Amino acid sequence: MTAPLSIGGISLRQPVVLAPMSGVTDWPFRRVVREEGGELVVSEMVASAAILHGVRSEMRKLSGDARAEFPYSLQLAGWDEAMMAEAARIGEGMGAAMIDINLGCPARKVTGKLAGSALMQDEALVGRIFRAVRGAVSIPVTVKMRLGWDEHSHNAATIAAMAEAEGFAMVAVHGRTRCQFYKGEADWAAIAPVREAISLPLLVNGDINSLADIDRAIALSGADGVMIGRAAMGRPWFIRQAGQHLLGQPVDPEPSLSQRHAIMKRHLELMMDHYGAEAMRLARKHIAAYTSGMGGSALMRQIANNSADAASVFDTINRFFEDAIARNEDGDTKAGDTPVKVRAA
Ligand SMILES: Cc1cc2nc3c(=O)[nH]c(=O)nc-3n(C[C@H](O)[C@H](O)[C@H](O)COP(=O)(O)O)c2cc1C
Repeated sequence: MTAPLSIGGISLRQPVVLAPMSGVTDWPFRRVVREEGGELVVSEMVASAAILHGVRSEMRKLSGDARAEFPYSLQLAGWDEAMMAEAARIGEGMGAAMIDINLGCPARKVTGKLAGSALMQDEALVGRIFRAVRGAVSIPVTVKMRLGWDEHSHNAATIAAMAEAEGFAMVAVHGRTRCQFYKGEADWAAIAPVREAISLPLLVNGDINSLADIDRAIALSGADGVMIGRAAMGRPWFIRQAGQHLLGQPVDPEPSLSQRHAIMKRHLELMMDHYGAEAMRLARKHIAAYTSGMGGSALMRQIANNSADAASVFDTINRFFEDAIARNEDGDTKAGDTPVKVRAA
């Protein structure tokens, strides 16, 4: 059992944080996670330079309702300490409760410019960025990183100690190196040296998909809490269940099919509000995640062909769930083990 967390004076009831995921942890998804009992959510990474230039697509990642979302953390990517500091100031002005620095993204377009996890190769630059961002804002600053660049350079503990010395409020570590991308399995035990190096709140991240994973990840890393990414896609209630588990409370059961349907519809409606006409195209990955294990490949094909027409997508989804619920109520099949036929729209 773990205790609630305090991050730079912001108290969290539960030591569980939604991981930043580009193209996923946008405002509608974060809102659904919070409605489903999540607490601290991190934005998609936002390029600092783009914030300074007011690039519309990036500014949209900062928008939403920061107050209603409190405490929401804005994750910044970048490589220039002055630009990152200025972007942090803008983010604070727009209502972010925390700034998170991205030292974890392995994407080439980011690492090509020595940002994301590539920064871990240049500790002096990391130190300048930490100091500049910390000095620019009065809200807590945190960092998310990988174990290091590759298996020969695990320097997460060194960088975590630098963060602590600069007055950071929390460290999250994904138990892979940059060179592993997403291959293999996250090595939670390899995070233990970070635990020894700092007394700041520490989150373990990577491949946490079940309550049993949470126990193992905490035991092996010594972390104070967990950061969960992919396992919350199509399953935003998992963040709440993780929190209940970590606090030793009774864990809510998986939602019924009709509850799942309602949560997904709510999510899609929020996407419509946020993105307008683009929403259904962007929603496809979420629809696939919510219906995963329900034999939804026909559903996905139909949605792919009709994603410009939101009403038809909603109709298709409604019928899909009605069918799945009807089959479930027959008593001899359960959602998740039977392909569900989708009627033509
Ligand atoms: C689609 C996708 C987008 C991601 N975008 C970011 C990002 O913007 N910033 C970041 O620090 N990590 C990003 N990550 C990494 C996640 O935050 C997390 O470290 C990783 O997925 C491992 O955790 P998980 O197994 O719980 O998903 C991304 C991961 C995925 C799958």
